[in-house]
Amino acid sequence: MLIASNRGPIAFDVDDDGRLTGRRGGGGLVTGLQDAARDPRVRAGGSMWICAALDDADRRAAREAPHGRLDRAGHDTGVPVRMLDMDRDTFDGAYNAIANRTLWFVQHMLYAIPEAPSFGPDFRRGWAAFERYNALFARALAAEAAPGAAVFVQDYHLALVPGYLRELRPDLRIAHFSHTPWAPPEYFRLLPDAVTQALLGGMLGADRLGFLAGRWAAAFEACCTDVLGTRPPGDPAGIRFAGRTTGVGVHPLGVDAAALTERAAAPDVARRAGQLRTLAAGRRIILRIDRTELSKNIVRGLEAYRELLRTHPEWIGRVVHLVYACPSRNELPEYRRYMAAVQRTAAEICAEFATDSWVPLHLEIADDYPRSLAALSLAEVLVVNPVRDGMNLVAKEGPVLSRDGVALVLSREAGVCAQMDRDALVVNPFDVSATAAAMHAALGQPASERRARTARLAAVATALPPRVWFHEQIEALTRPGPEAGAEPAPLDQLETTG
Ligand code: G6P
Repeated sequence: MLIASNRGPIAFDVDDDGRLTGRRGGGGLVTGLQDAARDPRVRAGGSMWICAALDDADRRAAREAPHGRLDRAGHDTGVPVRMLDMDRDTFDGAYNAIANRTLWFVQHMLYAIPEAPSFGPDFRRGWAAFERYNALFARALAAEAAPGAAVFVQDYHLALVPGYLRELRPDLRIAHFSHTPWAPPEYFRLLPDAVTQALLGGMLGADRLGFLAGRWAAAFEACCTDVLGTRPPGDPAGIRFAGRTTGVGVHPLGVDAAALTERAAAPDVARRAGQLRTLAAGRRIILRIDRTELSKNIVRGLEAYRELLRTHPEWIGRVVHLVYACPSRNELPEYRRYMAAVQRTAAEICAEFATDSWVPLHLEIADDYPRSLAALSLAEVLVVNPVRDGMNLVAKEGPVLSRDGVALVLSREAGVCAQMDRDALVVNPFDVSATAAAMHAALGQPASERRARTARLAAVATALPPRVWFHEQIEALTRPGPEAGAEPAPLDQLETTG
């Protein structure tokens, strides 16, 4: 079994003596897959994870290891890792110009259309790099896979891999999973026509495509109909294209309650919880935790908090807003500008409302996982208001970790909303006033109702933990077609890598 993703389960740094040291790779995608890869049933099959070298330290590690195969470098990656070394231009073009600045923007509908996008020669150079990068992954997977192996390709970075890989190795079973939303056809078709065809055709090289929510799967199918002329969405057999059929599945990734609560019981989290209690001094905590990411809608969230304090002055001095932003992608100028706007808005709120004895808002731009866990256990209100989000696992972690119930203010544009809309306070993320009103309603929720809703939200959040989520996809990929009429193949009978 092979897993392929841009970011892998391990990353390297160079220490003061010039030695390479390994650490855990970051981000939600890696966390979910990592747990799946640690499953003994996945480990047992001689599996491997193929990822890109992301920076100079990674590239050195990949070059120094025979065939890029890394030992675990002090960090348990679950399965062995092969890191692909490539020149910096190929990586930057594929990751920054195309994956992050184009595909991410399209799927999250982030463009300010009068100005962007604009597809000229720079874009074409980036696209050529994206093709090279995907071809490199396809060749590495083709070289590592045993006959009939199952390959699990992750996310938009690797959208062309299924098509390339099928040409090289028609014997393989190939799955592709999208961890993002999918844009409706009118928006997707902002991309040049040849690019829309290549992306959809490339993904349809897979036997199965996975999405986090039904809405994203339906949008993908609608794009196929519009761009490739496939039959209208909804055929239970899947999408027929170029003489093949690709199945489509929805797998709403959840969290592992046992692992999460065990980590939250560690002393470093208890220490942070003590500090936060002192900071809050009995005031009610309104929390948000995001990557420093345009799609997370942090600025409108802060504006809503300001409106809450203006329209409901009874909360002044009685609440405190913790805003934790974990740095991400700050090599992109759009992200740096956005974070400057976040800081500006936070400073304005403090200037307007702070008193000698009360700070209304604490903005922390740092990656402090134990502090995030501590805050989730204490918050009374959790704000998750992305303009668009594939799933959003913070919305799932909050109810699981909450000690005394948490009221969830949730964007209707997050994939998770399809599962949690009954017990969350659902908002239109563009409507700042409605978000402020939802914060007020959240603070007013009776404790008993808050606790009951939290229990139901936690049950939904833990329904499909990463190992089960991955197992479900393995079964779907390796299940013989309906014509064979057989039971799904047990995991331990899957073909393994060579
Ligand atoms: C989040 C998204 C994934 C994406 C990942 C990449 O986890 O949900 O869709 O692949 O970020 O982030 P990175 O930091 O590697 O650019």
